Amino acid sequence: MTHATREVPVVAIVVAAGSGSRLGGDVPKALREVGGVPLVARSVTQLAAGGVDAAVVVVADGTQGAFEAALADAPIPCGIVPGGAERQHSVANGISLITLHGSLEDAEVVLVHDAARAFVPAEVVARVIDAVRQGADAVVPVVPVVDTIRELVDEASVVIDRSALRAVQTPQGFKRAVLAEAHDALAESGQVVTDDAAAAEYLGHEVTLVEGSREAFKVTEPFDLVIAETLVARGKLS
Ligand code: CTP
Ligand code: MG
Repeated sequence: MTHATREVPVVAIVVAAGSGSRLGGDVPKALREVGGVPLVARSVTQLAAGGVDAAVVVVADGTQGAFEAALADAPIPCGIVPGGAERQHSVANGISLITLHGSLEDAEVVLVHDAARAFVPAEVVARVIDAVRQGADAVVPVVPVVDTIRELVDEASVVIDRSALRAVQTPQGFKRAVLAEAHDALAESGQVVTDDAAAAEYLGHEVTLVEGSREAFKVTEPFDLVIAETLVARGKLS
């Protein structure tokens, strides 16, 4: 593991240990390339551009070497740690690494980012960091929902007022202690959550919303990779 020897105020946990079953393919999703650059490397570059000083990248067992190679030219120090069965276990492993390493322990702000959101604009990253620095416990970038949404109710369905709905993205930002305590509490209770803000909320912390971006979409299905490849080739996505 390489890490900064100076004080490190902002650390990002980049979760990349999923199987990528909806995308398919022979290599982990985060190692898939767009414009010749692996998604995980794009994510780390965008995080660094937004103000992150070091990253802990959480990867599936047996893929550490491939991730080290993919991150060889990363603009910030990257530690690599094995993931867990569920996303929240992967995040917990990332937190452990931050706690283990003295220089990373100085981090006041910890971001958690899906490696698959490889095109997140630097402004979104900076907005999340700023909100935590200004005192928020837990921060999530959100975007309005563009589709009309129907909720299935028994055999029928009802339209939901989408003006009150927001889709949640990453990076999510936390005071380090808030994130660590939230994940400790989850581990103790066995509770399963879908994101880290929900983990903080579980402990009673308020969640602050900041503006996200459509460019922070998560590469999930083959269609997303085609869109990304096209936009990068046209210079419309960094
Ligand atoms: N992730 C993780 N550990 C897990 C599951 C997911 O680190 N046990 C990470 C993924 O690598 C991804 C992010 O969490 O960067 C968001 O998850 P998702 O987009 O669902 O990725 P996968 O779980 O890999 O994909 P799928 O659900 O299609 O299998
Ligand atoms: Mg998944």
